[in-house]
Amino acid sequence: MAEGKGFGKTILFGEHFVVYGLPAIASALGSVTIAKVEKAEKFEFLDERPETPGYKEKKKGEIERQLDSLLEQFKLDKEGNSVKITLSGNLICNSGVGASAALAASISRALNELLGLEMSDDQINKAAFIAEEAGSGTASGIDNTTSVYGGFLTFEKNLEGGPNTIERLSVQNPVEIVLATTGITQETKVVVGAVRAKKEADPEWFEQICKQYREVFDKGLEAVKKGDREEVGRQMDKNQEILRQIDVSCDEIEEIVKTAKEAGAIGAKLTGTGRGGYVLLLTPGKELQEKVAKAVEEKGYKTLKTKVGLSK
Ligand code: MEV
Repeated sequence: MAEGKGFGKTILFGEHFVVYGLPAIASALGSVTIAKVEKAEKFEFLDERPETPGYKEKKKGEIERQLDSLLEQFKLDKEGNSVKITLSGNLICNSGVGASAALAASISRALNELLGLEMSDDQINKAAFIAEEAGSGTASGIDNTTSVYGGFLTFEKNLEGGPNTIERLSVQNPVEIVLATTGITQETKVVVGAVRAKKEADPEWFEQICKQYREVFDKGLEAVKKGDREEVGRQMDKNQEILRQIDVSCDEIEEIVKTAKEAGAIGAKLTGTGRGGYVLLLTPGKELQEKVAKAVEEKGYKTLKTKVGLSK
């Protein structure tokens, strides 16, 4: 029997744009998925992860493709030379928190242990990425990278296929956030595909949008490094405006954003795939975090109160 862990994640800046080689900022969450693996004659998969109702059903195909990819990569079969995999942990699965990346990362880590392969984190990350791609067909690599390494980082995909650029950001003074779930599960592949279709229909417009996003990223990163929370919040709001323009927001996200801003959140944007999933609310201090979470919950949405590591 062996065990492996994969962190949940939230994207502060850059979902969707990261697919096209623009840089993004992500942070691991305290919530994790844990994979337990043991040798077995016949393949068995037990999914005991907590979920937003309907998540596992909707992601069934994606999960199966990920598992097939992992079995193939680790040279395991469905019968004979096989494994039993049990997933658990406190990461509540929904789109937006990197649940599928945490699945791939935790199983890759556990299989590496079980089979005594002594893989480096980079190799584990690669295995998780291949599984993510098999699952959704469109992964940039930001989710599995954050899930494997943890912490707070910038990520830039190498579109030529070479190594991606990853900068670890130091965490000196974590800041309170609220993650509010719309309760809607989306398939990353579908939403990424819709954005790609918009880009292809009007490349000039998309280039303009990318320029706007690049400005947000540059200012956001500077503010993160300085520990200027107000400015981080302002840039998150601008990022949300840009995400609206590429049509990955939805009514539930907008209601959460509006409610949170009225309750005092200093930044509010969708995080991850969009058109559902989670909304990230920047709420420094326990008091503001409580107040914003309460206001959002009163509208009928569930929340998760945690922290991300802004420096300073
Ligand atoms: C999903 O968490 C983030 C997206 O940018 C897709 C990806 O980067 O793989 C929407």
